[in-house]
Amino acid sequence: MDITTLKQTAQAMMVPPKGLLAADESTKTITKRFDALGIECTAESILAYRQMLFTTPGVEEFLSGIILFDETIRQSIDGKSVCQYLESKGIIPGIKVDKGVHDLANFPNEKVAEGLDGLRDRLTEYKGMGAKFAKFRATIQIGEGIPTDTCIEANSEVLARYAALCQEQDIVPVVEPEVLLDGDHTIEQCFEAQVRTLKMVFERIKAHKVALEGMVLKPSMVLSGKDCPTQADSKKVAQMSVDALKQSVPPEVGGIAFLSGGQSDESAVANLLEINKIGGPWPLTFSYSRGLQNAPMKIWAGKAENIKAAQEEFYKRCKAASLARSGKLS
Ligand code: G3H
Repeated sequence: MDITTLKQTAQAMMVPPKGLLAADESTKTITKRFDALGIECTAESILAYRQMLFTTPGVEEFLSGIILFDETIRQSIDGKSVCQYLESKGIIPGIKVDKGVHDLANFPNEKVAEGLDGLRDRLTEYKGMGAKFAKFRATIQIGEGIPTDTCIEANSEVLARYAALCQEQDIVPVVEPEVLLDGDHTIEQCFEAQVRTLKMVFERIKAHKVALEGMVLKPSMVLSGKDCPTQADSKKVAQMSVDALKQSVPPEVGGIAFLSGGQSDESAVANLLEINKIGGPWPLTFSYSRGLQNAPMKIWAGKAENIKAAQEEFYKRCKAASLARSGKLS
């Protein structure tokens, strides 16, 4: 493990005024998103779509890195491998390495992240292709009697073991314990689940001797459940999100890059802005998938003639997230 390299990569990922684009939807997930918009989903149409995003002129002003899916990292743009293409734009390539979330045996409605099997070899291969960071996502559901300690512990252990394996190869781990938006829970219940989760994640991270400066945390924001009748405003979301992080995340961590988690595009930006107005001991940026892609995907709609308009919208979404990340949006 070369801590200098890890630290440098983490700092480059978090450099103001930039953030990350998560373009690492699994084939199943992107098929679902294309289907909802009536877009034909084939290997070619997925590549055409991602190529539209990656070749957006000027988007490198706002994106420090892009998280890729296994299929994409093996493809080419303009005669270059996707990693080489991104590097040529000054964007750091990263890779999703989890294998999704699966039912946790004996714990109804709870999931455990999988993907540790063979991970060392997969990381070696991805490093050879040019990946400098890797992402692993676990999910925590709030509900009647859940999350259980067992679920939080199981996922935290997986995340810590993955992070240690990444650092062994000088790849920055992006550790993503997502507390899901689904449900009618209050923002206070979300806060409690977030603090319990993050405390356990960092307990296991410490036990596995992960270098904090050489990792990035990708948390959800503290939000009211999607079906909760009372929805907290941006100021409350920001205060509770920062408070939860301050209670559970060591200040040495290289940076925080929030996921959007199914919020509207506008809320994902407004909440990030308020979070940055409060600030913390870490850089606080974005690592959005839906929050950056919803609008441009709709405009693109699978048609070559819509590429320019979709790119203009994608540029606008990235710029708004970047301004929010800088605490500057009016
Ligand atoms: O794993 C989820 C992505 O990395 C973030 O996606 O911004 O749509 O929640 P999201």
